[in-house]
Amino acid sequence: MHVVVVDPSDQVAVAALHRIYVTVGRADNPETFVAAPPEEIRECLRAPTARFAFTAFLGIEDGEAVASGWCALALANAPQLAYTTPRVLPDLRRRGHGSSVLAAMERHARAHGRALLQSTAVWSADHGHDGSGSAPVGFALAHGFELAQVGVRLRLDLPADRGRLDALLRERAARRVGYTTRAWVGPVPEELLPGWALLHAALSADEPHGDLERPAEPADPDAIRDDERILEQSGRVKVNAAAFSPAGEIVAFSSILTRIGVADQAFQQGTVVDRRHRGRGLGALAKVQALRLLERTRPDITTVVTENAQENSYILDLNRAVGCVPVLYSGDFQKRLAAASVI
Ligand SMILES: CC(C)(COP(=O)(O)OP(=O)(O)OC[C@H]1O[C@@H](n2cnc3c(N)ncnc32)[C@H](O)[C@@H]1OP(=O)(O)O)[C@@H](O)C(=O)NCCC(=O)NCCS
Repeated sequence: MHVVVVDPSDQVAVAALHRIYVTVGRADNPETFVAAPPEEIRECLRAPTARFAFTAFLGIEDGEAVASGWCALALANAPQLAYTTPRVLPDLRRRGHGSSVLAAMERHARAHGRALLQSTAVWSADHGHDGSGSAPVGFALAHGFELAQVGVRLRLDLPADRGRLDALLRERAARRVGYTTRAWVGPVPEELLPGWALLHAALSADEPHGDLERPAEPADPDAIRDDERILEQSGRVKVNAAAFSPAGEIVAFSSILTRIGVADQAFQQGTVVDRRHRGRGLGALAKVQALRLLERTRPDITTVVTENAQENSYILDLNRAVGCVPVLYSGDFQKRLAAASVI
């Protein structure tokens, strides 16, 4: 097998990359895999976003693409970090293909001055929370990665239980008198963007990270718009709800990602509450409003998938209260690259 870099203008190569991504996702993650469309992949590769420069690799054997690598060099706030995802077609594993693709990504990362690699993968609940005996954990440990954080992936079947949501909204309702909400489909309205960007940065700072080295994400309205541009170009849209303090500031949000016109599973992207306004049930309020808007506007969608760090008990409890059930574990792996051996 030889490894090549994918040219984003090469439609055949992008299609092969997408086929491997979808085949592996469906095989290894049948319960919660939500495929990004090929357009999103091509758009990511075409030009760097505010946060990442993406490069994809294909492993070719006898003229057929059998493995892929997806490498994201973090920009601005994390110039030392690269995210690497190797994928190998299920029938062709344990032949060294994953190792070859990973080696190509490591060379690429080193060549761009990266000293830290991170990678995320899922395994079924049969392998327990430490993933022992699963392919990603075996593979990652064999290549010098450590398992730095474990997450739980949960699924909510829609329509959600109305009684559960109503009960959740009654909790702490007296503590949020004067707070208001707004829910919408699509980009963040311009007037809310600065506050939204601040909350988005707080979300990445406040989520538990286990042993994972996680760079602080600055509040960056341009990065939010960049993400929205890629979503729009790839036929996806977010369903959002926000909560506002009595003074009118945006103090909480929750958003769910969907694909326009396709009844795929939706993906819960994030729920966050400004530190100064916690304890009032605003996370539950925003989450329930976003779910209700999703149900009203997309009755074709029957599942929402979400993921939380294992130790994030607040959000795990909230998700369980909404009716989510755990289906898989996910692991974040990391590896420090030795400085000397630049190839
Ligand atoms: C993880 C994955 C990329 C491995 O690809 P692969 O081509 O089978 O890997 P390799 O043949 O290069 O394996 C190299 C070593 O990793 C370890 N390894 C790989 N699969 C393993 C498994 N199922 N169980 C235990 N160890 C395993 C072994 O040490 C193996 O060496 P060996 O075969 O000589 O014992 C592949 O299983 C896959 O695509 N999984 C789904 C996507 C994914 O989880 N990516 C990983 C992100 S970390």
